[in-house]
Amino acid sequence: MNPQRIHPSILSADFVNMESELQRISTADSVHVDVMDNHFVPNLTFGPQMVSRIQDVSPIPLDVHLMISDADRWAPGYAEIGAASVTFHAEAAAEPVKLARRLREIGSRAGIALKPGTAVEPYLELLPEFDMVLVMTVEPGFGGQKFISEVMPKLRLLTEARQKHGTQTWLQVDGGVTVDTIGIAAEAGADIFVAGSAVYSGDPAEQIEKLRASARQHSCGV
Ligand code: DX5
Ligand code: ZN
Repeated sequence: MNPQRIHPSILSADFVNMESELQRISTADSVHVDVMDNHFVPNLTFGPQMVSRIQDVSPIPLDVHLMISDADRWAPGYAEIGAASVTFHAEAAAEPVKLARRLREIGSRAGIALKPGTAVEPYLELLPEFDMVLVMTVEPGFGGQKFISEVMPKLRLLTEARQKHGTQTWLQVDGGVTVDTIGIAAEAGADIFVAGSAVYSGDPAEQIEKLRASARQHSCGV
């Protein structure tokens, strides 16, 4: 079993005070950085220049989630910035395995993300090619949406595939994760939990601890 990790999403942070917003989540395991291009998703955040500055000042490693088209072309640039992990969407990559190999070569962990409607089956045999699979628990694009528990069977399939391949692939959930829903994902086998609004709606350090405690209580044990 992998250790459980909490990755707050700065999508819910105050963008004009990013440096102090990063300090407020320094007790978390990584910062989840949502890059959106207003094409793959109907929302726009920031690009490599901003991510590079976040990398410079962040007290914790960067977990970059790319919600952008043509990931094959743009994702390696984020690995070059020094992000600890770079996750691209399966729906936006022409050659996901080739891209994941490139990201690893540069020195980042390679993650692949699946929208709620995207089947996991085609990726189960490819699991050793990825360091992380992100199972989206909302439609990507916006914070503050409701957790979609119907995708939990994907995590169970991934947990089985991970055992079969003998890999330690991280299984991440992102969207609608709160103190109330985190247990559902933990029981299904998730070990990396992204939370935006749940962390920044109160005192971030306190919220991070509450999320950790709730995830620990519901750990699936595999
Ligand atoms: C949504 C983003 C998420 C978002 C989660 O497309 O990928 O990372 O910040 O926000 P909450 O936790 O508020 O659902
Ligand atoms: Zn995200």
